Amino acid sequence: MKIHKYEKAFLFLSGVILVVFLGASFYAAVGMGIMLPSREGEIEVSKVRSTPPFDNPGVREIAPGIYEVVVIGQAWSFMPNEIRVPAGAEVTFISTSADVLHGFNIEGTRVNVMLIPGQVSRVTHRFKEPGEHILICHEYCGLGHHLMSGKVIVE
Ligand code: CUA
Repeated sequence: MKIHKYEKAFLFLSGVILVVFLGASFYAAVGMGIMLPSREGEIEVSKVRSTPPFDNPGVREIAPGIYEVVVIGQAWSFMPNEIRVPAGAEVTFISTSADVLHGFNIEGTRVNVMLIPGQVSRVTHRFKEPGEHILICHEYCGLGHHLMSGKVIVE
């Protein structure tokens, strides 16, 4: 079988692109530490508000410079709706949904989580600069979806 030389060149190029993309994925995960938010555990949707830590949503300093933010997504707001954290601190968001599927996206950061009913997710972020970020639900969750937003204030 004769393979045309352009065909060979394009096959080779396709192979090179595959290797480069796999390498980039590997580098992002191992070298830069970019990971999908991890699934922390399971929770019964109807009991979210009475199950720790979601029975007490909010911001807590658990060690000097280390914060934990417990957030519930619900139709159509976040609890808490305003989150204040200091610049430079390590902030871990522990979140879940109290009803349907919601999103948890902090604009201008890599914090982007799906709030899946029955699952708890955890994602850690460090806000380097003081400022204000909009917190939005980016999964369609019904009539009030476009109203579901909050604020993260970095002080
Ligand atoms: Cu909650 Cu869209």
